[in-house]
Amino acid sequence: VKGGFATFMDKEIHDQPQAVADTLLGRAGTDGRLQLDEMRIKESVLRTVDKIVVIACGTAAYAGHVAKYAIEHWCRVPVEVELAHEFRYRDPVVSEKTLVVAVSQSGETMDTIMAVRHAREQGAKVLAIVNTHGSTIARESDAVLYTHAGPEIAVASTKAFLAQITACYLLGLYLAQLRGNKFADEITEDLAQLRAMPEKIQRVVDNEEQVRAVARAMKDEPTVLFLGRHVGFPVALEGALKLKELAYIHAEGFAAGELKHGPIALIEQGQPVFVIVPSPRGRDALHAKVISNIQEIRARGAHTLVIAEEGDEAVVPFADEVFRIPQTPTLLAPLVSVVPLQIFAAALATAKGLDVDQPRNLAKSVTVE
Ligand code: BG6
Repeated sequence: VKGGFATFMDKEIHDQPQAVADTLLGRAGTDGRLQLDEMRIKESVLRTVDKIVVIACGTAAYAGHVAKYAIEHWCRVPVEVELAHEFRYRDPVVSEKTLVVAVSQSGETMDTIMAVRHAREQGAKVLAIVNTHGSTIARESDAVLYTHAGPEIAVASTKAFLAQITACYLLGLYLAQLRGNKFADEITEDLAQLRAMPEKIQRVVDNEEQVRAVARAMKDEPTVLFLGRHVGFPVALEGALKLKELAYIHAEGFAAGELKHGPIALIEQGQPVFVIVPSPRGRDALHAKVISNIQEIRARGAHTLVIAEEGDEAVVPFADEVFRIPQTPTLLAPLVSVVPLQIFAAALATAKGLDVDQPRNLAKSVTVE
């Protein structure tokens, strides 16, 4: 059942190119058109949606954070992301023009179920992005966009996360096409790039031994920090969550721009910090800003573990270790940049002799509020 791997988590990390390919299958056409047959919410409703609210918990919520960057850019619709248990209890502003997107691997997380019910009571349409067929969230939503990751057995999510992000991209590109916008060429190009992602993810997985060796050497670290900017920010949060869940190490993710507003005080000699570097080909000079963050923390003694694109030589002078990812458009980069962080957490937990498939105190689906 583990396909020759030592743990389900190892297998599921290796399943990721397929999980993304299967989630795209039949939906992302080679002709540049999107086909979401299961989209049972009327096109007229989707055209008039004036706000999208993503609700989810844990890793699924970080998929929602990635979705915000992508959907707002492609569709020019405001997207909020909220933890399901907070949404439900704060009297959120929701109307018939709100599209609520509930993201859940299991479809059985009680916090998310309650938020779905609350949203529907307020008249919102609910689209579920769910991995488990026939689950409660799938049944109670107005429409379901299934992630086709296959069963995920390890408690901490990996392949379902990549499939959730992929489904969010499909939703964003679909809405952009449906609503018609000025970036039609960009949408077609991004769809083509999305179809190329499974092969790129495979290349990152193939490089796992480099990451594992670094993880083994760090098994006694008490704390690890993660920095990212733009879509790299939710990737940093997910990298920290994986390390907490699997290796029971204190870990925190920060927005790189926030560093100087507080977290830089944590940096002392030898502090390991992962930095997710945006593409040097991206807009807005973000790459240069993150490079300067790496310089700042390195000057204060940080041990820098840098995730950067192939060919990005600017990181080399400031990196103790560089993990390469293939060149990818900025919005799609989380599908590759999170993979070394998953491998790192799993390998470090294994080096500590822990049960990576069933970490202490956690359950695969939390069916109580
Ligand atoms: C937690 C799991 O209990 O629930 C996480 O341990 C998961 O891995 C979270 O991300 C949300 O679960 P789901 O099934 O709603 O995606």
